[in-house]
Amino acid sequence: MTLWSGRVGGSLDPAVWAFLHAEDAELLPYDCEASVQHAQRLHGAGLLSDTELADARTRLAEIAHDPAGYLAEDEDVHSAIERQLGDLGRKIHAGRSRNDQVAAAFRLYVLDACAEASKEIGAFALVVLSVAEAEADTLLPGYTHLQRGQPVTLGHHLLAWVEMLDRDRSRFASAATAAAESPLGAGALAGSTLGLPGAPGQMRNSIDAVADRDFALDYLYAVAVLYTHLSRVGEEIVLWSSAEFGFVKLPENAATGSSMMPQKLNPDVAELARGKAGTAIGRLTGLLATVKGLPLAYDRDLQEDKAPVFAARLDTRLGLQALAALTAGLEVDRERMALAASDPLVLATDAAEALVREEVPFREAHEQVAARVRDGSFVPTGTAAESIAARGAPGPGGVRNALAEARARFT
Ligand code: ARG
Repeated sequence: MTLWSGRVGGSLDPAVWAFLHAEDAELLPYDCEASVQHAQRLHGAGLLSDTELADARTRLAEIAHDPAGYLAEDEDVHSAIERQLGDLGRKIHAGRSRNDQVAAAFRLYVLDACAEASKEIGAFALVVLSVAEAEADTLLPGYTHLQRGQPVTLGHHLLAWVEMLDRDRSRFASAATAAAESPLGAGALAGSTLGLPGAPGQMRNSIDAVADRDFALDYLYAVAVLYTHLSRVGEEIVLWSSAEFGFVKLPENAATGSSMMPQKLNPDVAELARGKAGTAIGRLTGLLATVKGLPLAYDRDLQEDKAPVFAARLDTRLGLQALAALTAGLEVDRERMALAASDPLVLATDAAEALVREEVPFREAHEQVAARVRDGSFVPTGTAAESIAARGAPGPGGVRNALAEARARFT
């Protein structure tokens, strides 16, 4: 029996039914939670008795943790819950529609997903920080255009990863703020005549309340940017672990072998992080495309909002945890890094700046040093370590301060 069998006679063609069915079992606990909130409002309006409210609470708590109660013949999670509530279910839908119901449940889901992402980002950042602390003085060339640029420490470089992760946390916090509003009371699109009491965070406009999916877009955007960062991190690990760089060795608990080439130790985790970034970006663009042409308020197209968010949540958790395991186990080859950082050419900028201190205009200093690089007569005055020590934030003192400050932010 459907929620709308009073209007639509007979039974649907099985192909139609299969097509309409929502894969939304993940919403179960969240929809139960939102249903309790709605029951409280019905009670507040005198439409549910104390006993009925208490029953609703008890039954919804049970249903929330019984995914087997959601049957294949239920149209969606909302129908499954209402059916399981029996007579109470027939009362509890007063003053609401699946339109505000699904938006309410989905917002609670996204709130939870944001909290989970922040937690996993924090755990990964702490792993990166531990490596950064251990490698605070480890020299390596910093790159632009993937060409050696100027010497830095691995600590400084890894702190750049941490900064990306910190901004990711704030993007999830802002998606959570967007999700925290409540569409309950909007009903199908225009509220109800039942005089339900308002609730904190209630959305101002009932049409917007059931039509809005910005919070899901914000979440998918936060995941897409996070994965863009994880992809760049992954790419660096791929490069650094290649024989050509030889900067790190992959830990055997986070690398894979080849089915054919016995010598291989492959950075599959780093590569998959890079690969999943494409998928994460696709989910965001997919939902943008779904929403863009929809007239307000609710349209069934919006059922397509859930699958990308469910998948994005799983990938966020799995990706951050796997990259944390990989990063924690990286074996840094300090000698190989130091050797690369001892390339005299990475000190060419310092040589030009030395001339600037002798009042040579910078462009002229640049030309003088460039000429020496071109004819092979460039000889640096100091070492990579001295070069770093002469700079502020990338210098060892600056890095130690930045490490302590970052650790405080993440603990
Ligand atoms: N399963 C639907 C969704 O995910 C629930 C809302 C259905 N509402 C409707 N009026 N048909 O969007």
